[in-house]
Amino acid sequence: MLKAIQVGVGGFGLSWFELLQSYQQAEVVAIVDPLETNVQAALKRANRSVLSFDSLAEAIEKVEADFVLIVTPPTTHADLAKTAIKAKLHVMMEKPLTDTLEEGKALLAFTNAHAQKVMVSQNYRYHPQIQTIKELLDQQVIGKVEYGDYYFNRATRFGGWRDEYADILLQDMAIHHFDILRFLLEKEAVEVTAASFRPSWSWFKGMPNAHVEILFEEEVRISYTGRWAGKGRKTPWNGELRLVGEKGAIELVDDRVYVYKAEEDEPTEIQLKTSLLPDRLLSLDAFVAAIHHDTVPPTSIEDNVKSLELTWAAIEAAKSGKKWTC
Ligand SMILES: NC(=O)c1ccc[n+]([C@@H]2O[C@H](COP(=O)([O-])OP(=O)(O)OC[C@H]3O[C@@H](n4cnc5c(N)ncnc54)[C@H](O)[C@@H]3O)[C@@H](O)[C@H]2O)c1
Repeated sequence: MLKAIQVGVGGFGLSWFELLQSYQQAEVVAIVDPLETNVQAALKRANRSVLSFDSLAEAIEKVEADFVLIVTPPTTHADLAKTAIKAKLHVMMEKPLTDTLEEGKALLAFTNAHAQKVMVSQNYRYHPQIQTIKELLDQQVIGKVEYGDYYFNRATRFGGWRDEYADILLQDMAIHHFDILRFLLEKEAVEVTAASFRPSWSWFKGMPNAHVEILFEEEVRISYTGRWAGKGRKTPWNGELRLVGEKGAIELVDDRVYVYKAEEDEPTEIQLKTSLLPDRLLSLDAFVAAIHHDTVPPTSIEDNVKSLELTWAAIEAAKSGKKWTC
């Protein structure tokens, strides 16, 4: 069983820690977090002995481990990952890869000079709805996708670091949806236009709402609308998605997947793929397999920097009001 040092046991880190208590292929041997209340909350949920530290450097010095799991705010990701890599530990980290694209590219260059595996957990790819849509696309059920719409609408109050971000929807949330699009289409973005804005009632200081038009390779056009200070009917976290091809359309609505054949008005609901593990553990499984077999994990830093590039293309396009060429 692999040994992990988990860095960050806040909101999402605590739920990672809970998930890992029943995971068969890796165990958390130490946690790192400067916030004592969060450390205590995690230790209460531990079902085996776990050490705790204030800093990753100290944990690395005192504990033997195979990898580091980073679940801290994005501003800390690059430095923590470098500390782990320098100590010859593999790295699994939460999205977004880094706080800025510049940091992401620098971390990729640093990683390329080392043998360790670095993977970003883009867990939404492993949601059953997304896996089901991928299978339908692979089976050519609607033929080649030519265009699509993506719609996300929630009103989420986190407090903390998210409230301070300039483009919070694009940086922290839309990256999931952009990564899903790259995964489903197996294409990269070539041009992006965008507008992000802050409604008067927003509790976020930055822009929680955005419209993004993405032109992917081979002329696939996607229109994305995301709202994190939204009103009205909420979408699930996956959002709602429609992909349209010559033979029909695939729709994701309320976390249910439908296929419309071109000549039919009524959709067929598709049974979702099932899996024994939740999305994050499937993602972790892929990382663990890459370590054991010395292969490149599916959402490796090399791949993930492209989702970060798309995010930053949208941020730059929104800022400049101009079309951004990727
Ligand atoms: N994949 C998903 O669905 C999903 C969902 C939520 C959050 N996230 C990601 O998880 C990460 C953490 O988000 P969160 O909501 O848990 O944040 P949070 O603010 O709730 O928790 C962050 C924790 O990290 C600790 N921390 C900060 N700097 C540290 C450092 N240098 N060393 C060790 N610990 C440090 C804080 O004390 C805190 O306990 C972010 O990258 C976020 O985008 C992903």
